[in-house]
Amino acid sequence: MLNKARSANTLYLLVFFVISVKIAVAQEKKPQPVQKDVALNTKIDAIVKKLTLEEKISMLHANSIFGTAGIERLGIPGLMTDDGPLGVREDVKENWSPANLTTDSATFFPNGSAIAATWNPTLAYRYGHDLGEETKARKKNVILAPAFNIARTPLCGRTYEYYSEDPYLNARLAVQAVKGIQSQNVAACVKHFAVNNQEVERGRINVEIDERALREIYLPAFKAAITEGNAWTIMSAYNKLRGAYCSENSYLLQKILKREWGFKGAVISDWGGTHSTVNAANNGLDVEMGSNPPYNNYYFASKLLDSVKAGKVSEQVIDDKVRRILWVIYHTSLSGHYTSGKINTPEHSKTAYDIASESIVLLKNDKHLLPLKPSTVKSIAVIGDNATRTFHLGGFGAGVKARYEVTALAGLQNRLGNKVTINFAQGYSAVFKQTSPGVNDETSKADPAMTREAVAVAKKSDVAILFIGGNRDYESESRDRRDLSLPFGEQDLVDAVTEVNPNTIIVVVGGAPYDIGKIKHTNHAIVWSWYNGEENGNALADVLIGKISPSGKLPFTFPASLKQSPAHALDAYPGENLNVKYQEGILVGYRWFDTKKIEPLYPFGYGLSYTSFNYAGLTTDKKTYKSGDVAQVSLKIKNAGSIKGKETMQLYVSKLSSAVLRPEKELKAFTKVTVEAASAANASMKLNIADLAYFNEKAGKWVIEPGDYKVAVGSSSKDIRLVTTIHVIK
Ligand code: BGC
Repeated sequence: MLNKARSANTLYLLVFFVISVKIAVAQEKKPQPVQKDVALNTKIDAIVKKLTLEEKISMLHANSIFGTAGIERLGIPGLMTDDGPLGVREDVKENWSPANLTTDSATFFPNGSAIAATWNPTLAYRYGHDLGEETKARKKNVILAPAFNIARTPLCGRTYEYYSEDPYLNARLAVQAVKGIQSQNVAACVKHFAVNNQEVERGRINVEIDERALREIYLPAFKAAITEGNAWTIMSAYNKLRGAYCSENSYLLQKILKREWGFKGAVISDWGGTHSTVNAANNGLDVEMGSNPPYNNYYFASKLLDSVKAGKVSEQVIDDKVRRILWVIYHTSLSGHYTSGKINTPEHSKTAYDIASESIVLLKNDKHLLPLKPSTVKSIAVIGDNATRTFHLGGFGAGVKARYEVTALAGLQNRLGNKVTINFAQGYSAVFKQTSPGVNDETSKADPAMTREAVAVAKKSDVAILFIGGNRDYESESRDRRDLSLPFGEQDLVDAVTEVNPNTIIVVVGGAPYDIGKIKHTNHAIVWSWYNGEENGNALADVLIGKISPSGKLPFTFPASLKQSPAHALDAYPGENLNVKYQEGILVGYRWFDTKKIEPLYPFGYGLSYTSFNYAGLTTDKKTYKSGDVAQVSLKIKNAGSIKGKETMQLYVSKLSSAVLRPEKELKAFTKVTVEAASAANASMKLNIADLAYFNEKAGKWVIEPGDYKVAVGSSSKDIRLVTTIHVIK
């Protein structure tokens, strides 16, 4: 009896538990944000009702270089933006000259392609999180970052700010950067939407592109940043797409962004990138920003007021824009979580250090000169302007007033100064002239006296480390590089130093590919580094001395010559008569090289380590999948060396016999794991079957072809280690 009662009781409790769990699950499933959204929308509607038309219009355009008006009488702040992505830009006067404050220094984070070279979304999140905290500490509510236009041509002056040539890697990093920023109740402003892939004539160029390439290559990271990352603002690009400026492009802003992707936030123009009042207002732009006063002359100022009064723009359209701005304000400044933020903290420096140390790519180490062994190396010649140059400022566009930046020379002195004699020579002077707009002009040539000095220090040292490459003046917004050649007579310097010291290590610093073909041929130790944030020198030194084994992988292909690159092979850059046709379509980056069987200098995803990794046992959880499935892909990775290291395993998919053109392979998943010396680890990746779709232009939708797909896992796009096949059914 007792037992029965007890079991009845147990049964009752069990049923109660199951029901409550179900309710809890249902509650959890019931999208919380919807409830919050309803309440917020009601609040926003009430505010909109209280505003005069003049007040509404005042919210839609800049009233200072980086800000818009709020409504003081209702306690509503405006949008206060600031530039990223390298960190929160210093404050400027109305003429863009520095405000010279003592309160606006900030953490200098590694540049976009450095973040991409880590292949580590967790680091992208930490970058975003810290950048968000700093934005808040500087009392801004929108940060103009991250920037992730596709690297269509290696010449684009902003390649260093962007991530990659690959839409998948791009999307994974963009989503995490946005989530990190917005975790601080600061709005990310993802930029530049869309197809802003060159700086030459960026303000006038029209991009002609087929729909498939647009959807498969250029939009995925924006789509993911909006639909997964939930970005609250987006910046329209300067250029035109199919005849209409991006800031008044109804197809981009209304159809794709707001309707297809359900974007709820505000579209902000690039600075001075608005070209009309009625078109821009009716086609989806919400806020006009610009570079110069008087602000009342802006398209979205008194001209917009007149257009509403003349019935050319309806008040509903204005209300929608105001609602979107209020929505952003209520997620940021008025969210109730807009705390005071933090700036220049040791934690932020650590993030900068971690990104830098995981981004450095070991390109060649044939004689195992690296890592340096302080027990045998007693003297080092540190040569090159890039050894003492800082990268937080320079060129045109956004930089950071860094609180500090450790140069490469300082980093080596910090780590080795008391054990090794360091002999420095500048090697070259980095001067370049810009005489025509849009492209870089001649740079300085090798200086015989400086070369002699460099040769002398190289001769008397056990090892020479030569720091060459670009800098932030040479790679810059508003212009592209003329070609891929190393500037400032650097090749001559490399030749001269290598001749006298066989233990020469070349460290190239740059944010985009350069032609280092000759160096690859003549030198046995090559390291690639970036504009790597305030901890640049410490991270670099730690990699050089082996405290950290390099784990960076190239986020774009290094062509052996410019002509190999698709846009250049097809003469489809920089366009003619202000029109550029993306003739390569979907074959961007390694998709082109692999499909056309062209051997690049260094392939996408390439990067060595001080140890070596063996891959084994590639399996998928099933053999056959349906369109909505997620395949679980597993393998084992073994560290075959005697030091700990990190390896990024890259999963590429190929469609075997397709009805349409398919790239030879496409990245669809990756994972980075740490493996202790002489040990093994299990690795797993999720492959979304939906990601195997191609965009069917005729049908205007994504289509997953049934059939066999090759799943290949490699250490780079060229170094495929394991292959299996899966079958996809409808
Ligand atoms: C750039 C943007 C930047 C804006 C404000 C423009 O020239 O294209 O990326 O955010 O200026 O400085």
